[in-house]
Amino acid sequence: MPDSIRRLLPLLGHSGGNRDAMTCFYRCGNACDHPAPNESANGYLGDVVNAAMSRRGVMRAGAVGGMVLGFGGAATAALAGPAAAAAPASHTPAHGHKPTKAGKLTFETVEPNTLDRVTIPAGYQTSVVIRWGDPVVAGAPAFDLHNQSAYRQSLQFGFNNDFVGVLPLPGRHDRALLVVNHEYTNEELMFPGFTSLDALSVGQLETAIAAHGLSVVEIERVGRSGQWKPVAGRRLPYNRRITALATTFHLTGPAAGSAALRTAADPHGKTVIGTLNNCSGGVTPWGTVLSGEENFNQYFVGGDAVSDAEKVRLNRYGITTTARYPSGSRKWDRAQERFDLAKHPNEANRFGWVVEVDPFDPDSAPRKHTALGRLKHEGANVIVAKNGHVVAYMGDDERFEYLYKFVSDKKFMPGHSPVARKHNLTLLESGTLYVAKVIGDSVASEIDGSGKLPLDEKFDGKGVWIKLVAGNRSFVPGMTAADVLTFTRQAGDAAGATKMDRPEDVQPSLRTGKIYAAMTNNTNRGVGTNAPADEANPRNANKHGHIFEITEDGGDHTGESFSWQLPIVCGDPAAADTYFGGYDKSAVSPISCPDNVAFDSAGNLWISTDGTPSTLKTNDGLFAVPVEGRERGHLKQFLTVPVGAETCGPFITEDDKSVFVAVQHPGEVTGATVDKPASVWPDGGYAKPAVIVTWRPDGGPIGS
Ligand code: FEO
Ligand code: CA
Ligand code: CA
Repeated sequence: MPDSIRRLLPLLGHSGGNRDAMTCFYRCGNACDHPAPNESANGYLGDVVNAAMSRRGVMRAGAVGGMVLGFGGAATAALAGPAAAAAPASHTPAHGHKPTKAGKLTFETVEPNTLDRVTIPAGYQTSVVIRWGDPVVAGAPAFDLHNQSAYRQSLQFGFNNDFVGVLPLPGRHDRALLVVNHEYTNEELMFPGFTSLDALSVGQLETAIAAHGLSVVEIERVGRSGQWKPVAGRRLPYNRRITALATTFHLTGPAAGSAALRTAADPHGKTVIGTLNNCSGGVTPWGTVLSGEENFNQYFVGGDAVSDAEKVRLNRYGITTTARYPSGSRKWDRAQERFDLAKHPNEANRFGWVVEVDPFDPDSAPRKHTALGRLKHEGANVIVAKNGHVVAYMGDDERFEYLYKFVSDKKFMPGHSPVARKHNLTLLESGTLYVAKVIGDSVASEIDGSGKLPLDEKFDGKGVWIKLVAGNRSFVPGMTAADVLTFTRQAGDAAGATKMDRPEDVQPSLRTGKIYAAMTNNTNRGVGTNAPADEANPRNANKHGHIFEITEDGGDHTGESFSWQLPIVCGDPAAADTYFGGYDKSAVSPISCPDNVAFDSAGNLWISTDGTPSTLKTNDGLFAVPVEGRERGHLKQFLTVPVGAETCGPFITEDDKSVFVAVQHPGEVTGATVDKPASVWPDGGYAKPAVIVTWRPDGGPIGS
């Protein structure tokens, strides 16, 4: 290990969760190294079950849950209603009218490995679509590792690609817009001669800031295959870089303009420069992209200078103050003073939102929708409910945080007319925000924290969506609507929401209407005074994570009650504490740390992972699993990513011919630098994050 890196170790010196220490610092400001910010006394399931039983709550929930039996047909038919004519985006709710296929996945399972390459099933092909530094905006200079600048980076593909959306150009099967998040930067893997963050020049800091954000890239199909590549040329009207450095965002919704969002640079609290730590996201039925601002805490210094009351608010989001979170800042205040909370205490309140980008209007200002609350947003995925309102499901990715959903005030307007499009662009500006309270149906004593199934042989139960705010009306005593939306974690605490094991991506299946959420892991579950295992988070020191499946009561996504199950409890299938829908565990692949989820058109769930190198000692990967029928739980590994990388995206095109994956942070291994890399994927020499596409050369569908 070079001394330069050793000097970083006071900052990097842990990997308290599942990840490499380098990942922990750069990704989330050492979130695992701190006590979890949620110190609320919110009941975990054991408490809730006991309390609910004493109030006959479970009986009531059971009665409501009975309606679930009639779900399938009526709900799916309704899903096909307003949404069926939806927009240019693929994966619109138009899938809803098709019956669920429950066929086998036909690809050959990829074995776990530690290779510095992408591994795919026999008979498939894969290629890089676009990589860090490739030109995006017309006229962008070619990448030059030794001469990067903020200007050049602002025209080129950013670092650490995460969310991937592919939106077909209207009427075209061979052209699409690729929209990608750039979550964070690894300065040690970007700048030759790197020694420490403190030693970076202001120009290098600005380059890193410009490498955050999103890219919009027009891509074209290669021949008639499932392969795609960027469109080249001088006219690239849609291509765009959105950066943390210079792009102006508009705040919308009830908290826009509120006192906590005003700064010296923006006295009206209506505009923000940049977006931070954009992790996952979703494609809306009206053809825009949502992007979650996640670990925004790590960019700020100066927390000690604010009032004690404000410190409580900062700490609830993991923002550094000496007393509570003494490490983790990137010290961007050296480049932009606004990242110093001593001088601009409200600046941190302007991040942590769901961002909406209209890639079809390259001149449009992206928006931050305050109506969807302020969390460490993993992402947001929308479904059109059968009554026409749109519902966004969201996870707050930190240990012991909550699941949320947003229901729009207005209804989705089908079609592609300018009137419909203008209307639909306003859907996320007003609505109702809920947080989830989850109740197990087995008695608490049967959940022993080992992962052993309770007597009914299912981790399952009921749940309620607790209303936090509706429009400008708060349902949390002592908090205004703007308070609830800006300090949503505190609102969730007050409402008695259920502490979950790091809710990551949450996505509805457009075939069945069921919602799938990745609980990636929580090694603090049941440790010390932390909340112990419960039926929804059934393992103490949970290092492998699980999948949480929600069925809204009556198939009504706008309703306030649901039932749930855990279809997959991750880990080595040979271990007793794992569960794969009851499927023969000798036939499934090992999986750990589920992060992003997606669906193919057959309704199979695709899961990408982040953390397997630490937990299973193999590279991260992409998996597919049927969630209906006899094959439910038959999970198979589809690909693996190179050394040090996390698997992001994924995105399966509506024709099932192409799987896009973002290979994030290849070579992110403690001690590695761009000069002494741990990975040289994809081009040799050193590593570059890149988006890849995988397809079948025989033109057949991916998966099944
Ligand atoms: Fe950026 Fe929750 O992963
Ligand atoms: Ca049960
Ligand atoms: Ca993620």
